[in-house]
Amino acid sequence: MGVILSIIIAYLIGSISFSYVIAKKIKKIDIRKHGSGNAGATNTLRVLGKGPAVIVLLLDIAKGMAAVWIAAGLEAVPFLSSGAEGLAPAAAGLAVILGHNWPVYFGFKGGKGVATTIGVISTLFFFPAVYAGIVAIIVIIITRYVSLGSLLFIIGTSLLLIITAGSGTHPVSYILLSIILSVLAVWTHRSNIERLVKGQENKLGAK
Ligand code: G3P
Repeated sequence: MGVILSIIIAYLIGSISFSYVIAKKIKKIDIRKHGSGNAGATNTLRVLGKGPAVIVLLLDIAKGMAAVWIAAGLEAVPFLSSGAEGLAPAAAGLAVILGHNWPVYFGFKGGKGVATTIGVISTLFFFPAVYAGIVAIIVIIITRYVSLGSLLFIIGTSLLLIITAGSGTHPVSYILLSIILSVLAVWTHRSNIERLVKGQENKLGAK
């Protein structure tokens, strides 16, 4: 019961598209019709500038964290607990990102889930996320490709979890989640990957 409740709450939280709401508020535009068309922090930077982008980034990260915390809280309630280690937070982590990408309040057209993924995975597996995050930031600084850094961050975190799986540090549900998130990130970034391969991807700071 706790798992299902966690998934529903997480999906509804994830569906709050902060880039959409903030772009509507500030400029009365639909962010999904501007820039890359993505309802996320990178496109907010492109379309609205640094201040709004930082706010969107932090709020999208926060909703990922909140969904996982709520699930962990519900899991701690004896009559709601699934008994499976980490299952509710992992399921909520996936649901909040699905909500961000396909939001129920905004016609199921949202973002690519990177900031929300940062919130989820830094809460569930902090150190692998930090190590992969450092690599991703260096790659973004050098190449100015946010999409490339985003993919390296999510896939890199998953690889670190897989490599260290034998140590038993993380429950199997977290390792599975990280693999699903990698596949999801590749899918949501498929047009970015195509542009990266062709050398036509948008660079950070370019108009
Ligand atoms: O935040 C998503 C990022 O990885 C790419 O965004 O707008 O360049 O497609 P965008």
